[in-house]
Amino acid sequence: NQQLYIRNFSIIAHIDHGKSTFADRIMELTLTVTNRELREQILDYMEVEREHGITVKSSTVRVYYEAGNQKEYQYNLIDTPGHVDFTYEVSKALAACEGVILLVDATQGIQAQTIANYKIAKSNNLVIMPVINKIDSENANVKETRHQIQKLMDIRSADILCISAKTGEGVMDVLEHIHAIIPPPLDRIEKPLKALVFDLQYDPYKGIIAYIRLFEGSLTKESTLLFMATNTFFQPLDIGVFSPHMQSTDSLSAGEVGYVITGLKKIQQVKIGDTLTLFNDPTNEQLVGYEESKSMVYAGLYPKDDRQTDFENAIYRLSLNDSSFQYQDEKSEVLGKGFRCGFLGMLHLQIVRERLEREFGVYVITTAPNVPYLVYMKDGTELWVNNPVYYPAFNQVKFVEEPISDVTITSPQEYIGDIMKLTTNRKGIFMDLSYQGEQAIIHYEMPTSEIAYDFFDQLKSFTRGYATMDVKFKKYEMANLVKMEIFINYIKIDALTFIVHREDAYRIASQLVLKLKYTIPRKLYPMPVQVNVEGKVIAREDVPPLRKNAAVSGEKKSISKKQALLRRQNINKRNSEHSMVELPQEVFNSILDIN
Ligand code: GTP
Repeated sequence: NQQLYIRNFSIIAHIDHGKSTFADRIMELTLTVTNRELREQILDYMEVEREHGITVKSSTVRVYYEAGNQKEYQYNLIDTPGHVDFTYEVSKALAACEGVILLVDATQGIQAQTIANYKIAKSNNLVIMPVINKIDSENANVKETRHQIQKLMDIRSADILCISAKTGEGVMDVLEHIHAIIPPPLDRIEKPLKALVFDLQYDPYKGIIAYIRLFEGSLTKESTLLFMATNTFFQPLDIGVFSPHMQSTDSLSAGEVGYVITGLKKIQQVKIGDTLTLFNDPTNEQLVGYEESKSMVYAGLYPKDDRQTDFENAIYRLSLNDSSFQYQDEKSEVLGKGFRCGFLGMLHLQIVRERLEREFGVYVITTAPNVPYLVYMKDGTELWVNNPVYYPAFNQVKFVEEPISDVTITSPQEYIGDIMKLTTNRKGIFMDLSYQGEQAIIHYEMPTSEIAYDFFDQLKSFTRGYATMDVKFKKYEMANLVKMEIFINYIKIDALTFIVHREDAYRIASQLVLKLKYTIPRKLYPMPVQVNVEGKVIAREDVPPLRKNAAVSGEKKSISKKQALLRRQNINKRNSEHSMVELPQEVFNSILDIN
């Protein structure tokens, strides 16, 4: 039975603990790739990933290992990303395997995402193989790391393997342990096809390519296939495996991981988490699929130029490939037609922006991000607000709830004081503090809006880069919020509207008008910038005019009269064109720059 010789697993690790290096070494030692290819870091294939140095999308590769027992094993390595924003991607990849290798950097020990990923793997009932990495480093503290892992997992010291992904030391030993420790897939070939779609790619020529994990049955190139949730059937153009590049095969069967080139072009026809089966002999039971991801940050995305169609197509295709990215139509008076988009967090937003630029050549304006609010109206209705423009007038609101996150911070003990200061400033509520060797682990509850933007950067600089954090949505809780509306030259700019805690309103408003004073492109006349809260102007500054001696006509007039005239002319033009205030990206960034 060939399934006995298949192992499906992921490597999970905190960011920078060496997952990519380890995966590369596995491919090298199993002769899957040559050294030259390795240098290009095959698993981290996307450009954006290389730049950020983190793995964003799950990808997958098949290697063959000649074991000590003379048997050849097929190892399917499913890659997972490792940053705060990407826990969703991690759990998605985990659903397609039986075991994980938990990699821990000996120079850092257990970190926030080590614990988070460990918990996900455990709750998925996966076999967990702990491995200590970077033992070659002079900063390695193998003893302490071993101790931390033993405590976290409640295991014997002998169950922990040690490697250097860099030099390759110990990696062969890990390969030998994989087939002994991680179980083969308990899938059945004789049954009708049942496969999980765990990722999607779009190819302009071949259409949608589905990455699948087969749980039951098998398929060939000739099979007519069916996506059960969308009820779409098709004849595949090709099927195959990743080793590590796409390689065509005649068939795929239970336990295996591979791809299906569907030839389908409409993104609505396929979705991640769907079950793939045979059209003529379907399985009677759909797979559970994935939980919908929860967007924690929303922002408006608008095209920078007039390539509206390219912009829209790019958004559709990106959403196909990144199921945690969500979008809906939105219109802004100043910016035109765009989308209100949902993200897992700020890093996710940044990566989406960069992918749009690099993979699709589309440049966008991003409005200031916000978290989703739940508004209870006086008339008894409830309203979800993910766009501040639709936040109702204050006299219609009974009360509002905002999202609160569970924040776990790990850090060397000496920084606890600084961390406390930072989190208190951000309305954090201390929950508990514990120690794991030298490391302090601190829990807080904090408004998600306070951590959504630059909290992580601040934490890093407060702790000289040592602290790590993990964030999970916890609950909705009542909050005292106000809507800030920005008027430029007496015109309300909808795209700049945002929500803040009432107690911060004055401070933020006065800082904001100062920032806007220097970021809004100047005109020939001075333009007042005002912040309006609940019908009152609470802050104002004037954007200085372009030059003082603007010539309006041949007549001799005082400067202020000329400017007044220019302004009047401009206001008269207002209804025919909306170009009167231009909003470059810096204007939206000013809102983010305020702490
Ligand atoms: P993300 O994908 O960003 O989560 O990072 P990663 O976990 O894939 O880490 P990566 O493989 O990129 O390694 C991070 C850094 O650690 C790189 O600079 C590696 O060269 C280094 N590194 C990885 N393994 C070892 C090792 O065994 N020893 C030493 N000394 N350095 C290592």
